[in-house]
Amino acid sequence: MEKEQNKVTFATRLGIIFATAGSAVGLGNIWHFPTTCGQNGGAAFVLLYVIITLLIGIPGMMGEFIIGRNGGKNAVSSYRKAGGKKVFGIIGAIGVLGGSLILGFYSVIAGWCVYYFGLALGDGVLGSQEHINNTFAHLMAPDNYMPCILSVAFILLTQMIIVRGVRKGIEWASKIMVPTLIMLLILLIGASCSLPNAFDGIRFLLNPDFTKLNAHVAFKALGEAFFSLSLGTACLCTYASYFKEETNLLRSTVEITLIDVAVAMMAGLMIFPAAFSVNVEPDAGPSLVFMTMPNVFEQAFPHSVAYVVSVMFYLLLTIAALTSTISMHEIGTAVISQETPLSRSKAAWVVSAFCSVIGVLSAYSLSHKGVGLFGDSFFDNFDKLTANIMLPLGALCTILIVGWVMPKETVMAELTSGGLYPRRAWVVKTFYFFSRIVCPILIVCIFMNKLDII
Ligand code: TRP
Repeated sequence: MEKEQNKVTFATRLGIIFATAGSAVGLGNIWHFPTTCGQNGGAAFVLLYVIITLLIGIPGMMGEFIIGRNGGKNAVSSYRKAGGKKVFGIIGAIGVLGGSLILGFYSVIAGWCVYYFGLALGDGVLGSQEHINNTFAHLMAPDNYMPCILSVAFILLTQMIIVRGVRKGIEWASKIMVPTLIMLLILLIGASCSLPNAFDGIRFLLNPDFTKLNAHVAFKALGEAFFSLSLGTACLCTYASYFKEETNLLRSTVEITLIDVAVAMMAGLMIFPAAFSVNVEPDAGPSLVFMTMPNVFEQAFPHSVAYVVSVMFYLLLTIAALTSTISMHEIGTAVISQETPLSRSKAAWVVSAFCSVIGVLSAYSLSHKGVGLFGDSFFDNFDKLTANIMLPLGALCTILIVGWVMPKETVMAELTSGGLYPRRAWVVKTFYFFSRIVCPILIVCIFMNKLDII
């Protein structure tokens, strides 16, 4: 039984930018990027990250936008239409699975952020190094089920926004949260860069030490770039199905990519100057924002300022996570509500239930040694499965479909928005050269490296 489908779109151009940039900007930029950057030598990593984002990110995002707007519906249906055969729907379906797995383990870290935000409000984050370590150890203790509960709670919070629909839910929330996020970020950068010796941190971020460049760093940077741009799970494709006919896809792609890179850099500018000003090495790994940063705030500022900074910091992380989880949830909700007789709200329950199971497994596996497969925790299993396999594969299929399978007239119609924005010949040629040859080769190389083939 086909349900009546009315085409839903985002209401405004700004709404489109905020929603999509909200998806891209997340814990990837604000938590994972500074962490990986701190562990991989700073500016050399940044340089590769930026180059890869521009080279592969832009054609990749364009590809998903083209497939999504041309399809005008959910991921499965759009990939089917793009490929011209039913089997291509599988790529959309794998995207749904990937997005849902990511939502599962991502909500664990999002839950930690909410926990720390609550603690920060009650002035419970700051204190001696011992207090800070104990706080984190308590959160991760085997008999503490708080991370499991918070992970499910975060998924349900996401669902509350999703069920309100594309305009009243996603667009409305993004229009409030993305500007708030940017404002918080600017305030925190101001505080961080005003500290003595802040310049050391800026140098760490911007002055590359080329001896630190190697294949391993390049591949790290690639994984980071895909994840950060929300590439490879049909997430951008789903959002693009809500774009208007006159939305300029190329311009939106460039704007969103630049916002994403800028926010990652800003997160670096917020964290590294503060860390260097009190001589703390920013190479702690995943606990950087939960253990290193409270210590940095405590040492760098008078207590009252440190209190305000810590509250703003964890609020920032929570908001960044939420605009991203919304986009992951929407991939599955759109498919189920459009392809089955279920209503949007029932479809959202199905997605939340599945992701909650993944979330609880992931959270539980982090506080209980040995819970997981192949010697890793479930959290790492889901992280590696998606980041190392599903995202590169999804992005590769997308780029190949746009480059080689879709009729050129269809691609051109999307690239020019039906002739509204004529494109110069070199732009079209470059786009095709990248989609057909450069990006597939680069992605295959990275993919094989991750699987330890090269
Ligand atoms: N880009 C987001 C971040 O940086 C995460 C994200 C949202 C994502 N949607 C996605 C990652 C889809 C992969 C696929 O945190």
